[in-house]
Amino acid sequence: MLDQLDAVLDEARAALAGVADEAQLRDQEVHFLGKKGALTALMKGMRNVAPADRPLVGQRVNEVRAEITSAIEARRSELEAARIAALCDDPDFDATLPLAGPPRTRSVGALHPLTQVTRHIEDVFRAMGFHLLDYPEVETEFQNFDSLNIPATHPARDMQDTFWLKNGNLLRTHTSTGQVRAMRELGPPFRAIFPGRVFRYEAVDASHEHTFHQCEGLMVDRHVSVANLIHSMKTLLSNIFERDVTVRLRPGYFPFVEPGFELDIQCQVCGGKGCAVCKQSGWVELLPCGLVHPNVLRHGGLDPDEWEGWAFGLGLSRLVMMKYQIEDIRHLLGGDLRFLSQFRQG
Ligand code: PHE
Repeated sequence: MLDQLDAVLDEARAALAGVADEAQLRDQEVHFLGKKGALTALMKGMRNVAPADRPLVGQRVNEVRAEITSAIEARRSELEAARIAALCDDPDFDATLPLAGPPRTRSVGALHPLTQVTRHIEDVFRAMGFHLLDYPEVETEFQNFDSLNIPATHPARDMQDTFWLKNGNLLRTHTSTGQVRAMRELGPPFRAIFPGRVFRYEAVDASHEHTFHQCEGLMVDRHVSVANLIHSMKTLLSNIFERDVTVRLRPGYFPFVEPGFELDIQCQVCGGKGCAVCKQSGWVELLPCGLVHPNVLRHGGLDPDEWEGWAFGLGLSRLVMMKYQIEDIRHLLGGDLRFLSQFRQG
C-alpha cells in the first residue's frame, strides 16, 4: 500500500509538470484528488491493510494528499503568472475589460435631443439655400459686444453675465458673435446659420443653465424685409413642430437689430387656450430677431445704404424643451442615461 501511495505521488508530480494550461490542470486535479480519483481508489484498499498498520498508512495517505494539493496550487500560480505575463505583452490587451463572465448585452446609443433638433434645423435651412457655419466658443470682447453695437455701458457686459478669461477674451454669451465674421467671410448677398454652445455666468436652476445652445440665422441682401424674416421663421417652426404654427411679433430691444422683435408662437401644448406651460397667455416666447443694425453692417464692411439684413437668435435648448415637453433645462447637459435613452430613434 505504501509503495502504491509513493507511485501515485510520483505519477502526480510527473503529470503536473506536463500540464500546459489551467484547464489541463483542473483535469489532473480531478484525476488524482477527485471523488473517483486515484487517491480515493487507493483508500478503498484500506480495509485489506492489517489493523496494526492502518495508522501509518492513513498518515501517509494524508501526507500524499497534502503534497499533491500543494503541487497543484504551485503549478496553478505558475500557469496564472505565465498567462498574465502573456496578456501584458499583448498590445491589444485592455485591462479594463472583464476577463471572463457572461457575454454583456450591447446597448445601442442615441443622438442627444439637442443634436437631433440641431440637425433637423440645419436640414431645413440648407434646403432654403443657407450656409452652415461654425464659430469659436472663445471670443474677443469685440466680436461678442462692440461689433454688435453693444456699448460698454450695456447691462449685457455686466461681469455677472459673462465668463471672462484672464487674457481679456470671453466665452461667447450668444451666437451673434458670428454675424460680423459671416459678413466679412461670405460677402453679400448671403444667408447663413451658425448653431452652437453659448455660456452665461448665471445661477443654475430649472430654467437657467450656464451652458446652453442657440442657433443664429443671418441673411444679407439688397432688399430684406420683416416679411422675409417672418416667412422664414414660420417655415422653420412649422417644420420643427411638424404642423402649421401661428406666430406673433412684439417689439424687443437688442442693440444689434433695429427694429428688434420677440417672436412668440402659439402654445403647442394648449393650442392657445391658456395653460401652465404658457402661463395662461396662449403664447410662448421663442425667438428674438430683427433687422440688422446699420452699425453692425458697417463692422462687417458693408455699406448700410446698399445692404440690409435680418437676424435671429433661436434658443435651441428652449426649443428642445418645448418640443419634448422637458420641464427642467438641467436634464439637457446632465448626462443621465435614463433621460437620454428616451430619445432613441427607431
Ligand atoms: N443674441 C441675442 C441673445 O442671445 C438674440 C438675438 C439674436 C436677438 C439675433 C436678435 C437678433 O439674446
